Amino acid sequence: MCGIICYTGKKKVIPILMDGLKRLEYRGYDSAGLAVVENGKTFMVKSKGKVSSLEAKLSDSSSEATFGIAHTRWATHGKPSEINAHPQFGCNNKVSVVHNGIIENYLEIKEELIEKGHEFTSDTDTEVIAHLIEQNFNGDLERAVLKSIEKLDGAFGIAAIHSDVDHKIVVVKRGSPIIIGIGENEYFAASDSTALAPYTNQMIYLSDDEMAVLNSTEYYIKNLSNEVLKKKVEFVDSDIYTNDKKGFEHFMLKEIFEQPETIENAFRGRIIESEGVSKLGGLEPVIDRLKNMKKLIIISCGTSYYSGLIGRYIFEELTELNVETEVASEFRYRKLKLDKNVAVLAISQSGETADTLAALKEAKRKGALLLGIVNGVGTSIPQLTDAGVYNHAGPEIGVASTKIYTSQLVILTLIALLIGRYQGMSFTEGKEIINAIKKLPDQIREILSNAKMIKEIALKYSVYNDFLYIGRLFNFPTAMEGALKLKEISYIHAEGYAAGEMKHGPISLIDENFPTVAIATDDLVLEKILSNMEEIKARDGKILAITNEGEKKVKKIADDIIAVPRTLPLLQPILNVIPLQLFAYYIADEKGCNIDKPRNLAKSVTVE
Ligand code: F6R
Repeated sequence: MCGIICYTGKKKVIPILMDGLKRLEYRGYDSAGLAVVENGKTFMVKSKGKVSSLEAKLSDSSSEATFGIAHTRWATHGKPSEINAHPQFGCNNKVSVVHNGIIENYLEIKEELIEKGHEFTSDTDTEVIAHLIEQNFNGDLERAVLKSIEKLDGAFGIAAIHSDVDHKIVVVKRGSPIIIGIGENEYFAASDSTALAPYTNQMIYLSDDEMAVLNSTEYYIKNLSNEVLKKKVEFVDSDIYTNDKKGFEHFMLKEIFEQPETIENAFRGRIIESEGVSKLGGLEPVIDRLKNMKKLIIISCGTSYYSGLIGRYIFEELTELNVETEVASEFRYRKLKLDKNVAVLAISQSGETADTLAALKEAKRKGALLLGIVNGVGTSIPQLTDAGVYNHAGPEIGVASTKIYTSQLVILTLIALLIGRYQGMSFTEGKEIINAIKKLPDQIREILSNAKMIKEIALKYSVYNDFLYIGRLFNFPTAMEGALKLKEISYIHAEGYAAGEMKHGPISLIDENFPTVAIATDDLVLEKILSNMEEIKARDGKILAITNEGEKKVKKIADDIIAVPRTLPLLQPILNVIPLQLFAYYIADEKGCNIDKPRNLAKSVTVE
């Protein structure tokens, strides 16, 4: 989704902004632009399409400017075009603004400004911010921004400059991330720390309704009541931010292959073997509340929702908790009765997903305990929650989530183990789960060593236009996640179903051109899924089964099998999804799709 990068200092700004834009490309965008100021004049260049087209337009530029702002846009108001790309500007071309998020009341502000004589050129909501700042400007940019913000409803991250105000950048956060980067006599602002990583490891994460004012010699942060705030500077390990494919053709493939390490990062230092329990520092402040909790609601979107669905089964298996999992965009509008005896757990790779954030705010209003499982350190969700656990999996650049999904599943198991041991789970059971978790990295390595065979199977199936994925219990969400992976990166129609639902509708789709991927690993419902597979075979449907090594009955019915090692049923989805990720990847690659940046998708969905 949209990205912001800004710089003020002594270095030439255009190469820094362009590098930042390239680092933000993975978020998804449809146009890009930048505005820099040199000798009191604004120089603005925008382009529809790739950052490389913006770069081409800048190839003749000899600008020596040393401060400016830049943006990658993902259209919400107004279609992708050069005019609608950011920066947006006022009537006299002196104010330039970049903006992530949505201004909900922009139409009414626009009408007011038109009455005052402002002329608009774009269809964007962002343009009203530039005109408002222009209207309120009397030499003091900071004051003009503050006054303008008062008028805006919605969620936003904004950066503004004015050609009469040398080297000053004013940024504001409300609901959309802004991170300040601190260098030596130079300052940065960005919507994502990945863009700042090559320049500094000192970062400040703004909270909602905070404003930062940067110039080439100093920075300060204020709240919107104009009071200066002291904010903690975080030291970020910039090594984990390398945007390097490390020899893999795509980030997605690299991230699939990173899973043995990311799984290990999820549990390293977080288990006490001698006590058969987990130790999660991030949950310690709330552990007394947690162990007496009666109800847990897991909220998340997309792939993180599917890990939350598996989480429900895991918590039901290991704890006494009453658990629900809900898509965040639905949860936020339900009339739920929440109180301090309910814990709401948000799962999010980015930590910035607008629906998950809004759902959490709703739960906070009603007094629930807020928890998070988040990969993005210091992002908006962990700032809002009472306690939580980080994935520590490094950035996920491929738009389709892979390594974070499996890491989320490990962390869900560790949380359930922690609570379960307070609620009657035996030491032996706790120890058994720990032993199984510790084996996962090697078991994943074993599956990855079969990538060539999985590729051959994927190529064989790449001729079909529709797929059904079926699974039961722990692997019902695996079926949905497998289908999502395939459809989002290859644009092939795929549906994930609870296998027991086959007879209630989807079976009518089955014929020789509509293959099924059946998740048929060893658990208490294996016999049931075997019956579903028989029903598919009886209708000439082709079946690719994910099963355990040595599982003879599945082999007999399926046309093709991919075997994975055995683990506890509650951990089996972690292994089962790996071949499904590879299967989707190789089909999409065969079709020549833009795997790391599928059409219409964004990595971080910061609008509703
Ligand atoms: C799919 C995918 C998305 C995200 C969803 C939630 O591969 O990545 O479905 O899972 O947009 O994002 P986060 O986890 O950042 O809240």
